[in-house]
Amino acid sequence: MKILVTGGAGFIGSALIRHVIRHTGDSVVNLDKLTYAGNLESLAEARFSPRYAFERVDICDQVQVERVLREHQPDAVMHLAAESHVDRSISGPAAFIETNIVGTCSLLEAVRQYWQTLEGVRRQAFRFHHISTDEVYGDLDAQGLFTEQTPYAPSSPYSASKASSDHLVRAWQRTYGLPTLVTNCSNNYGPCHFPEKLIPLMILNALEGKPLPVYGRGDQVRDWLYVEDHARALYRVLTGGKIGETYNIGGHNEKRNIEVVQVLCALLDELRPLSANPAVRDAMRARGLAGGHYRELITYVQDRPGHDLRYAIDASKIQRELGWVPEETFESGIRKTVQWYLDNPEWVTNVKSGAYQQWLDQHYTTRMLSP
Ligand code: NAD
Ligand code: TYD
Repeated sequence: MKILVTGGAGFIGSALIRHVIRHTGDSVVNLDKLTYAGNLESLAEARFSPRYAFERVDICDQVQVERVLREHQPDAVMHLAAESHVDRSISGPAAFIETNIVGTCSLLEAVRQYWQTLEGVRRQAFRFHHISTDEVYGDLDAQGLFTEQTPYAPSSPYSASKASSDHLVRAWQRTYGLPTLVTNCSNNYGPCHFPEKLIPLMILNALEGKPLPVYGRGDQVRDWLYVEDHARALYRVLTGGKIGETYNIGGHNEKRNIEVVQVLCALLDELRPLSANPAVRDAMRARGLAGGHYRELITYVQDRPGHDLRYAIDASKIQRELGWVPEETFESGIRKTVQWYLDNPEWVTNVKSGAYQQWLDQHYTTRMLSP
């Protein structure tokens, strides 16, 4: 089978492509605009496979998407391209509306036209798999889990834009019969995660002796899933899921943000102790810190506006119907993740340059002013 993956240079898209190239005989066409979050270096050996092709295209450019579909003739589309960071959606929502809503609509139209040109078995077997987030369900208090029946109640411009795109995909299935699948997943972590999100930001800030900005009191809860488990789940849904169905994907790993940051600090104390990082230790001492442990860098900052309190997924449907369960525990996955960032300084240097760096500096200068 040939799969067109949108957003394949991003965090989850690149893990999905690595999975498909390593573990299946399928071919992949990666359609990606390469925004600040897209990084072809994350594709590792997959980029050099004869079963991999790349098209630098914006999903909003329907003419170009139609050309890619015509030329590559995929058997399935997995749609991951999106603006994905909640904080960015708060400071600049327009790009989220443009890519996540208008772009998804434009992609659906291009795919619908292409699908209508397919005949017989190819038309029947075709799938459009939309990759979405559990954030569309809003948040939970201390009790309960998100199921596939939980009503939508998105809080941020990001989650509202993803909720809109989910509705569009379901409408294209019901109205035009496009064979769609939707998955809603909890927070991912793992290798090649862009360092604007909690886990990679904390690892890299700690290694540079920068403050670790915990929003509010750090008591919000997220359900963490190792990205390679997500990639396996996505492939399982694509190949075994029922048309028109939604599958929730989660890690059964609920943690408070402050616990996650403390675990990261403890792992760094073990794997890169400050005694082996003397420049950072001395800089910490110059700022009046003891310089013995990374946790001294934890800094409570102003909370995120509209911050969702708790996400937690009931992933029993995908387990029951498709036999998927996560392989990594939080403990095994987070250790692998910290080790990956220690082992890949070149990847880190390359992503932390240019436009991203400017945005990050501006964002955190403002936020750090209010404790
Ligand atoms: P990411 O920000 O790391 O990557 C997004 C990719 O999409 C980048 O390669 C970027 O260049 C590309 N892109 C952005 N706009 C584009 C456009 N207009 N045209 C073509 N390409 C474009 O995101 P991610 O974390 O890998 O998330 C992938 C998908 O999974 C998103 O749809 C996101 O909503 C969803 N999701 C993410 C998480 C998570 O924890 N990261 C959890 C659940 C669902
Ligand atoms: P994030 O990784 O941005 O994912 P999401 O907002 O999609 O859940 O944030 C995860 C949690 O960590 C969220 O509750 C916000 C919090 N957070 C911080 O406390 N400090 C930070 O610097 C960041 C980026 C996030």
